Amino acid sequence: MQEASETFRREGKRIGFVPTMGYLHEGHLALVRKARADARVVVVSIFVNPLQFGPQEDFGRYPRAFERDRMLLEQERTDIIFFPDDSEMYPEGYSTYVEVRGLGEHLCGLRREGHFTGVATVVAKLFNAVKPHFAVFGQKDYQQLKIIQRMARDLNMDLEIIGHPTVREEGGLAMSSRNAYLSAEDREKALLISASMTKAEELFRGGERRAGVLAAEVRKILASKDGIDIEYITLCNPDTLNDVGKIERSALLAIALRVGKTRLIDNTILTES
Ligand code: PAJ
Repeated sequence: MQEASETFRREGKRIGFVPTMGYLHEGHLALVRKARADARVVVVSIFVNPLQFGPQEDFGRYPRAFERDRMLLEQERTDIIFFPDDSEMYPEGYSTYVEVRGLGEHLCGLRREGHFTGVATVVAKLFNAVKPHFAVFGQKDYQQLKIIQRMARDLNMDLEIIGHPTVREEGGLAMSSRNAYLSAEDREKALLISASMTKAEELFRGGERRAGVLAAEVRKILASKDGIDIEYITLCNPDTLNDVGKIERSALLAIALRVGKTRLIDNTILTES
């Protein structure tokens, strides 16, 4: 991978990169299209990163469909699919980790110990392998995007990190590889996530600035069906991820919950337009 990238760079070709864990959907493909629009060479990685899964999490059963992914990426005119295996990424004796403090200690960081260290570490390694001029990440994983931007800045990584808006299914559910775990009934419940965010946006537009009131409204909607186990509903500063009480200019509304065994996250930025 490094040799190929060095050659592209010598030829003056701009390399755009989209890291993924595969089982691709329209959300991933939107990032690939963004890279395709801005780069001469598009690289997509597929690697289900064991380092970012906790011991009780779904690493073993995470959905995988390499041949289908390959077909989809070929349709999007991807130049290179980079799919290292576990032992190439983490050979025996592997011992270096990237920890982004502060940002990693909010929201999902509180419940998924070591998750963001796993993410930052693998992304740093992928950047070193692919040597891209820019990389595209989805706002669906807002905290991840912020952490990667901070890592790149703090470690003087010579590339640009581009955020891409969340792609949703008809009905509003944010696309996710984990949606594959949902039964039809679960899916109905999961629709309440975007419905509750829309309600918060409406209230915000109507002038409501109290985070507690907005969170309570979201909770009420999510509680209207059985079987939704809320992990957090947070309103925080979109840059620092610190909780806010009263919203000044804008706030991130971030939600994490479980429908059955499936963990889902989503977010929206409430902002004065
Ligand atoms: P994965 O969940 O496969 O997501 C890969 C990229 O697609 C991430 O940048 C994610 O934010 C983006 N994405 C997922 N669903 C999206 C949607 N509905 N709309 C827009 N973008 C979406 O995130 C990871 O993999 C991993 O943590 C990774 C960064 C690859 C490191 O292992």
